[in-house]
Formats: sequence, structure tokens, C-alpha cells
Amino acid sequence: MNMLDLIKKTRSYRRFDNSRKLDDVFMSELIDAARLAQSAANAQPLRYVAVNTDEMCAKIYQHLRWAGRLKDWDGPVESERPVAYICVYADKEAPAVANAVVDSGISMQNMCLYAMEKGVGSCMIGNCIKKEINGLTGAGDRYELLWVVAFGYPVENVVLTDCEGDVAYYRDKDGNHFVPKYKSEDVLLKKI
Ligand SMILES: Cc1cc2nc3c(=O)[nH]c(=O)nc-3n(C[C@H](O)[C@H](O)[C@H](O)COP(=O)(O)O)c2cc1C
Repeated sequence: MNMLDLIKKTRSYRRFDNSRKLDDVFMSELIDAARLAQSAANAQPLRYVAVNTDEMCAKIYQHLRWAGRLKDWDGPVESERPVAYICVYADKEAPAVANAVVDSGISMQNMCLYAMEKGVGSCMIGNCIKKEINGLTGAGDRYELLWVVAFGYPVENVVLTDCEGDVAYYRDKDGNHFVPKYKSEDVLLKKI
């Protein structure tokens, strides 16, 4: 798959095949993809907690909030829940920690692209109960939880559409998930 096709395919997936697990090797490859990302001043303030046991995944899941725009959907049913998570933390004592949020976007996208190339879908999650997740990970006060990224083999069809004004994602009656994106001419201010 060429890079642009991979970028198009790397959507936010929220329904997965919970019977297809991700092993420790895959988790360490995700951490490799993350740790090799660009970083302001190469300060590398990010730290990670990798989760891929059924027991911990079930616990983490309870504190995540899915697809806020889909008011009539409470998140994936048990058989469609993620099989792994990477919790992304900033080390508050690291230099250049002010850039950690930018760094984290790059590192998460590295992981999501890496995963998708292997057929594994992902969803970045900011809407979560951080205090509860910290209680589960035991990361400690030195580390601030920025995001949780969910992973698994997707069982939903996510379709990119051209945005005609409304950016709200939506689903049709068959469960297909549509994601409107602005067209090039909407985002390109000028070519000079
Ligand atoms: C920083 C960030 C935080 C997000 N937080 C959540 C979240 O809490 N829950 C969720 O279901 N999706 C979350 N998403 C996924 C977005 O809703 C998704 O990117 C958007 O709907 C566009 O879909 P796409 O990723 O397929 O392009 C988040 C995405 C980003 C980049």
C-alpha cells in the first residue's frame, strides 16, 4: 500500500474483533514506532504504559468515552472492544515538556500508521477518566496521562467523505461510519 492510501485507511476505529489478540512482540513494535518519533529538541518527554491482557483491557475500557457525537451509541459491545491500549504519558520533569502534546501527536500517529499497515486499527482517546486510569497503570505522580490509544482488528467500515459544511461524523442504518473531511480547496489558503 502506498503511503497516501495507508493514511486514508488509518481512521479512528471503535469496533474490533475482541477474539483476535495482540501479542507482546506487537506491543513492543508499537513502542518502537512511538519512541522513534520526532521530538522538540529531541527531549523525548513521553513515556508509555502498554496494556494487552484481557483483565487490564477490561478495566481500562470502563474509563474511556467513545464517539461523543454518536449520542445513541454507548461504545463497543464486549465482543467488539479493543484488545490493547497504549497509555501516553508526559514526564513532568523532562526538559521541553511544554512540547509534549505536539510530540505525542506525532508518536501516536507513528503507532497508528504502523498498526494499520499490519491490519490493526486504532483510536486515539482523550475523553477518559485520567485519575481512574492512573490508578490502574500505577504510573505515578511524575507522569501526566495525555491520551490512551486503543488497538484491535477492525470490524467496522469507516468511509471518508468530502465535507459539505458539517464536520460531524455519522453512521448509517447498516453501521457504516462516515468521516467528512474538508476538501483540498477548503484547507489550502493559497499556492504561491
Ligand atoms: C487528540 C484526539 C483525541 C480524540 N479523542 C477521542 C475520544 O475521546 N473518543 C473517541 O471516540 N474518539 C476520539 N478521537 C477520534 C476522533 O473523534 C476522530 O479522529 C475524528 O472523528 C475523525 O475521524 P478519523 O480519525 O477517522 O479521521 C480523538 C482524536 C484525536 C486526534
